[in-house]
Amino acid sequence: MEKIVIKGGTPLNGTVQVSGAKNSALPLLFATLLADGESKICNVPALRDINTAVKLLRELGAEVASQDGRYRINTKKIQSIQAPYDLVKTMRASVLVLGPLLARFGQARVSLPGGCAIGARPINLHLKGLEALGARIHIDHGYIEATADKLRGAKISFDLPTVGGTENLLMAAALAEGETVLENAAREPEIVQLADALNSMGARIEGAGTAIIHIQGVSRLNPLECQVIPDRIEAGTFMIAAAITGGHVLVRGAVREDQQALISKLIEAGADIQPEADGLRVIGPKNVTSVDIRTSVFPGFPTDMQAQFMALMTVAGGTSRISETVFENRFMHVCELQRMGADIQIDGHSAIIRGTDQMTGAPVMATDLRASASLILAGLASENTTEVARIYHLDRGYEKIEEKLAALGADIWREQE
Ligand code: UD1
Repeated sequence: MEKIVIKGGTPLNGTVQVSGAKNSALPLLFATLLADGESKICNVPALRDINTAVKLLRELGAEVASQDGRYRINTKKIQSIQAPYDLVKTMRASVLVLGPLLARFGQARVSLPGGCAIGARPINLHLKGLEALGARIHIDHGYIEATADKLRGAKISFDLPTVGGTENLLMAAALAEGETVLENAAREPEIVQLADALNSMGARIEGAGTAIIHIQGVSRLNPLECQVIPDRIEAGTFMIAAAITGGHVLVRGAVREDQQALISKLIEAGADIQPEADGLRVIGPKNVTSVDIRTSVFPGFPTDMQAQFMALMTVAGGTSRISETVFENRFMHVCELQRMGADIQIDGHSAIIRGTDQMTGAPVMATDLRASASLILAGLASENTTEVARIYHLDRGYEKIEEKLAALGADIWREQE
């Protein structure tokens, strides 16, 4: 097993390039199942979750070749419609094959993902939406079995805006007969990229990026050719890395419109943020100011940035309240930050953080993907050595993070435990 070792205290300086977005690349990879032929996707990040997605595509019968982030996926010989438990349990986003398989082959058998470190994360809204399109769904031996002679367009109003649910329904409805209207749809930039990609394949989707999406079903889609957008969560993590170390970093690939909530909170915290042609320049404050945040769906403050922002608040002057409204159990990083000297109390769905200038390095354990990043950020701001164990979580979603931070001057490396 590997761990990341950080000797903190160095302000970061320089330019860092953001990789392709994991949460965009995954639905795009699965969207290739909708067409019969060879799709090409570039700027795919090198991540464990992408490897899992590729394993799943191959398991279904797709041929996948890749070089330097350019993927070719040939879906001519799909011979299975089953997403097995061992893959779905390592990556929940595997359930995104449900919509495409059902739409193209009229059937899908996908393992139920089960629980997750950050909350229950049910997929009932995906299933309810597919049923509204005419799918017959039942659960058998832990698997979702879905069949449909022909999906038919319908009006679907989500109880809450679900990213994965909106993506599954977009892909299914693209090949359904007639019009589908998704109400209370998720509005994340990854949804917009998926809709654009589907439209480039021949789909007829309007309104992605708003709460109401109209989809006119078509009878077939062409293979996909597209480039994955930059990862706004990775970009945000580097923006906080600059802020927490009092550094000066150009985050190349950070898109201002996608980062509004984080930008305004970082400015409140004392950072200076300057938009540039190819990214955002972040100049960290001498002293960080405490700021309250409340996570919510896009364009609100992303739950995927909550743990990293909490790391920043541990070194702020004052008290802040961070409220998590998207997932019920997303404070697993708190106990680990406390081991590094953070003063944090949990109060229901909120964490109260009293800033300290005495964060000290410690051996800590990553509990989930974004929690791992928050521990690295805290390590960058602590004077002595932090060792982050169980970094397989980190490798699911951050491409070479220690190399990118080291190139900005951080004293950080990966070693065997
Ligand atoms: C996606 C992102 C994840 C991010 C999350 C919220 C990917 C691969 N993952 O996850 O990084 O943290 O959006 O921005 O893109 N819910 C239900 N029933 C459902 C579906 C969702 O109750 O059928 C609930 C969830 O439990 C959660 C909330 O809705 O509380 C939002 O979940 P959702 O937007 O679906 O997240 P994911 O698509 O799983």
